[in-house]
Amino acid sequence: MVKTKREGSVIFSEYKRGEAIKAALEKKREDILLELRESKVKGRGGAGFPTATKWMVVAASTAEIKYVICNADEGEPGTFKDRVLLVDYPELVFDGMVVAGYTIGASRGIVYLRGEYEYIRKPLEDYLESMRKDNLLGKNILGKEGFDFDISIRMGSGAYVCGEETALIESLEGNRGEARNKPPYPVNTGFFGRPTVVNNVETLAAVSHIVVKGGDWFRQHGTDKSTGSKLFSISGDCELPGVYELPWGTKLSELLTLVGAKNTKAIQVGGASGICLNKTQFDRTLAYEDAATGGSIMIFNGSRNMVHILKNFMEFFVEESCGQCTPCRIGNVKLLEGVKMIESGEYTFDYIEKLMELGRTMQVSSKCGLGQSSPNPFISILENFKDEIFNGNGGYNG
Ligand SMILES: Cc1cc2nc3c(=O)[nH]c(=O)nc-3n(C[C@H](O)[C@H](O)[C@H](O)COP(=O)(O)O)c2cc1C
Ligand code: SF4
Repeated sequence: MVKTKREGSVIFSEYKRGEAIKAALEKKREDILLELRESKVKGRGGAGFPTATKWMVVAASTAEIKYVICNADEGEPGTFKDRVLLVDYPELVFDGMVVAGYTIGASRGIVYLRGEYEYIRKPLEDYLESMRKDNLLGKNILGKEGFDFDISIRMGSGAYVCGEETALIESLEGNRGEARNKPPYPVNTGFFGRPTVVNNVETLAAVSHIVVKGGDWFRQHGTDKSTGSKLFSISGDCELPGVYELPWGTKLSELLTLVGAKNTKAIQVGGASGICLNKTQFDRTLAYEDAATGGSIMIFNGSRNMVHILKNFMEFFVEESCGQCTPCRIGNVKLLEGVKMIESGEYTFDYIEKLMELGRTMQVSSKCGLGQSSPNPFISILENFKDEIFNGNGGYNG
């Protein structure tokens, strides 16, 4: 595991436990929201929604009960940066939750922790207990009369879809983890119908720094549209896999050099549900406005078979589709069948074209982000690796 602590670091820059809470309690809530808006920070969980906008809606609600949820489900294949943050930098994440509670007027925070991370639950609970002892959680936090906030940890059970914010809330409520129709969004009708902020672990960590160091400071990193830095979980064919902090706007080719990747044929940007890029696309940049990602980067060298990689991804989606809506329930099965046909050589270009159309239909007609994004690897791998997959057969122009 590599963590780059270097000049220009944002998330891994200096931070002392409680600093953000102290700074926030000295400010007016409106000023914290303005600072967040200034920073232009967007959600690190994948969708890239502006954090300030989300918080402003909940802060403006007059509801008596509101919630802050930290999405630590981290189910996207190839992602492990949230675990590193929780284990090595819990102060950033939990302080960010307290800041969120203060700013939006919530008194309860919940961490929804990936089922497979059961082994870090106890250390995290011990950490929360130590925060209570220091009055960073509990009643009248740091002497701020009337500000009460506490955090509990709830475990997921291994369903990928439960990382989707509304399925996560259903799961927390004790129901089957299935996505809800949106709207209404959790900011209006969230946990048990109350206004709820759901943020990724890394987003909350970024908030802690922004509250202490300012929106201007944050905006100095990254690009105009993608401010700050990003944690990338880098795996696959490279000498130095691990978690890296890089400014948004970093080129994929720079990243390959940094991690010691050689003879790279493909980069899957954004986990199984992301897009797969070929050599001619390695000068693209990691940014919301170009190759966007929640942080998962998988590197494949020349020895890898692209059809096998795609089959693995599609098997995952068939397994993880919750089955509520037809495009995703049936579509993923059809796409997987198509991959198997390609593998055995029993396909026609006409049928492959129909499957590409099916994929595009799933992207716009599925009920939640799982089915909207699961065709991404199918479409991008067939488009970007068609020479290899179809044996250089020029008959397919997909
Ligand atoms: C199938 C699926 C799985 C998701 N898994 C996660 C996850 O593990 N962690 C996460 O933060 N967001 C995940 N998301 C995105 C969440 O729905 C939501 O956008 C995010 O938690 C909001 O936080 P942010 O604004 O800080 O990014 C997932 C979305 C989908 C569709
Ligand atoms: S898109 Fe897939 S996971 Fe989402 S609701 Fe439909 S069937 Fe369920």
